[in-house]
Amino acid sequence: MKSPATLLRAPRPWHLAALALLAGCGEDHVRRYPQTTFHPTTEFARTSDFLFKLSLGLGIGVGVLVLGIMCWFLWKFRYHPGAGEPKQIHGNTRLEVAWTLIPALILAVIAVPTVKAIFETQQEPPANALTVEVIGKQWWWEFRYPQPNGDTVVTANEIHVPMGRPVHLVLKSDNVLHSFWVPQMGGKRDLITNRVNHLVFTPEEPGVYYGQCAEFCGTSHSLMRMRLVAHTQAGFHQWLANEARPAVEPLPSDSAVALGKQLVTTGVCAGCHVIEGTPMAAHVGPSLTHFGRRRTVAGGIMENNAENLRRWITNAPYVKPGSKMPALGEHVGGSLTDQQITYIIAYLQSLQ
Ligand code: CUA
Repeated sequence: MKSPATLLRAPRPWHLAALALLAGCGEDHVRRYPQTTFHPTTEFARTSDFLFKLSLGLGIGVGVLVLGIMCWFLWKFRYHPGAGEPKQIHGNTRLEVAWTLIPALILAVIAVPTVKAIFETQQEPPANALTVEVIGKQWWWEFRYPQPNGDTVVTANEIHVPMGRPVHLVLKSDNVLHSFWVPQMGGKRDLITNRVNHLVFTPEEPGVYYGQCAEFCGTSHSLMRMRLVAHTQAGFHQWLANEARPAVEPLPSDSAVALGKQLVTTGVCAGCHVIEGTPMAAHVGPSLTHFGRRRTVAGGIMENNAENLRRWITNAPYVKPGSKMPALGEHVGGSLTDQQITYIIAYLQSLQ
């Protein structure tokens, strides 16, 4: 008999396969693969998950059965010297009826819950749903929250929602096709220029969920990412109230922030961005009103910190090919010195 030590020294392919399967389990899986579809947290996501597992299970069953029979036949009817021609079985009616009926039955078993899921996930949003307009840009996301007083809270790349209340996304695009996909919230749905699509789901667990565009939309499609932040009801209202107020004024004593504000609001940034509470009112790029509070920069691809902000402001097209944001650093043909970019970063980070 082999000692355990011998077994440890000689991993077999099935050991590695078992390890890979185990690695796919548990909370660690979500941390390592934040865009997993195997940890559904809404009714919609569970519906897709069930359909996937049902089709996969039936597929594996059919695969094992067919391959098993095939292997058995290969062995049973292998070549024997002098065995002669085997018995011919062309046109066996019973067999043909069976292999027509069985797949039809399997497809029916998949079709019933599939059609049910299509209707369930296309339902009208409930009356108490939170409406968020989602606009696909090249290559970032705009999120608009219409307010009861007629105002609209506008943010980018980070969609905040409350738990336990249905979220109704109104999906639009003003350029090309995109597709909204936060895998743990449910399936993908397209954003199309000449029609409005709807997506309804109810977040159940607090947390930060990863998502990204799931429809090829140009050079930086793979860099069109987002975060979905699910709050408690109170946390969400706090967030919304903060987003609804104008940008903070720099303290007179903080000269770096004040210099940054002057550079941002009167310089090149003002051509494309809006910051509520300042004269900036352009809507080419994302709103920067509470930029300092966002987790990410550049369409969800990098953590929002000074180092990444400098990379982005200095040479955005290098970070995100095809970006409308031009290279602004003076050593790559732009008009801003490193010192000026330092002031701009200080101001942007102050926008809480
Ligand atoms: Cu937007 Cu792909």
